[in-house]
Amino acid sequence: MALTNGGAATPAPASGGSNLVLILDYGSQYTHLITRRIRQLSVLSLCISGTAPLSAITALSPKAVILSGGPHSVHLPSAPSFPDGFLSYVQENGVHVLGICYGMQLLVQKLGGVVDVGEKQEYGKMEIEVQKESALYAADEVGGHQTVWMSHGDEAVKLPPGFEVVARSTQGAVAGIEDRKRHFYGLQYHPEVTHSTKGMETLHRFLFDVCGLSADWKMQDVLEEEIKTIHSMVGPNDNVICALSGGVDSTVAATLVHKAIGDRLHCVFVDNGLLRYKERERVMSTFESDLHLPVTCIDASEQFLTALKDKEDPEMKRKIIGREFIAVFDDFARNLEKQLGKRPEFLVQGTLYPDVIESCPPPGSGRTHSHTIKSHHNVGGLPKDMKLKLIEPLKLLFKDEVRKLGSILNVPESFLKRHPFPGPGLAVRVIGDVTKGDALDTLRQADEIFVQAIKDAGLYDEIWQAFAVFPSVASVGVQGDQRTHAYVVALRAITSEDGMTADWYYFDHKFLIAVSNKITNSVKAVNRVVLDITSKPPATVEWE
Ligand code: XMP
Repeated sequence: MALTNGGAATPAPASGGSNLVLILDYGSQYTHLITRRIRQLSVLSLCISGTAPLSAITALSPKAVILSGGPHSVHLPSAPSFPDGFLSYVQENGVHVLGICYGMQLLVQKLGGVVDVGEKQEYGKMEIEVQKESALYAADEVGGHQTVWMSHGDEAVKLPPGFEVVARSTQGAVAGIEDRKRHFYGLQYHPEVTHSTKGMETLHRFLFDVCGLSADWKMQDVLEEEIKTIHSMVGPNDNVICALSGGVDSTVAATLVHKAIGDRLHCVFVDNGLLRYKERERVMSTFESDLHLPVTCIDASEQFLTALKDKEDPEMKRKIIGREFIAVFDDFARNLEKQLGKRPEFLVQGTLYPDVIESCPPPGSGRTHSHTIKSHHNVGGLPKDMKLKLIEPLKLLFKDEVRKLGSILNVPESFLKRHPFPGPGLAVRVIGDVTKGDALDTLRQADEIFVQAIKDAGLYDEIWQAFAVFPSVASVGVQGDQRTHAYVVALRAITSEDGMTADWYYFDHKFLIAVSNKITNSVKAVNRVVLDITSKPPATVEWE
């Protein structure tokens, strides 16, 4: 089965079909969390737009559908809804439907109940009381209180025929409803949020006891299924290329494809002269010794640095780097074609699920669909006229799932936990002209000391990204009774979920003193170290 997602063909899920939970997204900030929570319970779940056509739902033949929350009110004419025919389809096919928050109100309204503007709006942590043993709550929960996460203004005031209330908030609002006969269920709160203390238990009960799903979605199966998909796409004489960045996603994707087709995969790693300290050696040794990946390492540092000479403008620098990447890939593909006697037909990309999910846009955005695009400023890419077909083996996975897959593929743990590194490399960390003096080498040394100190202190895994910046500013200092006029280095470490927002990391002072001393004592060109204490927003993570 090929399922479609946002118009693009996606490989079949590892064990989908009738053991699939489909999430219809109505724009809640927690929609992806529902998808992830269900996967944590070893059940495959996929997310599509809440306004997707019926054919998109029936093509997946889910065993259960969850209608997500969302910022809308069901009373507005623009309120998003499931397609015509959805309610008949689920009833005729015995599909279980759980509405969460807005999803519950939608279900109530469409089935003939009444949703009104609530007298008391409920936001944040609230208490509910379980009133009945039911599909969603066990007998021993009845009469008990649970803390849950609420976020609603509207409220179900009259239930459709066949429904009963099984839980209420302590303020009296309907919190849980069921029509067991027709397999409709609703929760006014968010069970997927950790503040809902028994939320995972409720989801567990819904998936396994109510819907009869089996917990059979395992990373090992995903791996085997993806290998089968690759075999069905790539013919025995076809060749595949992959550009490795040294990051987790492209490495795991390439390792998986290599397992499927062996040396017909041709990887390229470009040293653009903007890499971190010993990065090329480290990455190449992992590719060669640990992963046995066939990688051509192209040293294009002179080409990149020549093109960047005297360039100060950040956008101009990014554009130049993008252009040079394309030129290098073009050469690589042409040489490969000469060697093989035919063009490579496929390109591997490490695209992840959050990049392809088509979700409901926020109200007032004027859009009918929105894409979550994380890597909005990816540089490079391959020349458009190469007309390669895409292999995207991680397209259904979240980042933590990619790490699990990488671990099954024996990608070293230390590699899987690496902090993200931007495509344009150190060029966005040296302010202005990167080729001036020893800027790049100075930055590499300071960065290595900082990151190594973080690793030694056992802090690496709790920090999302840590690096040094070279602001290209000199300051006056005094070292060994001598006046110095040397460079400033800035240290930046952040915590973040996804890089879209970030907070700066609060280091212990002793740690900072030790790092500052080590940098000024061992990096000759530096006499001053400063700490970046800005969150994102207003700053960005990188300085350029
Ligand atoms: P900003 O600086 O936009 O960075 O707050 C957010 C995250 O994205 C990384 N980043 C990039 N990654 N190509 C990439 O692949 C780029 O051009 C790029 N610019 C920034 C940055 O390191 C952070 O993790």
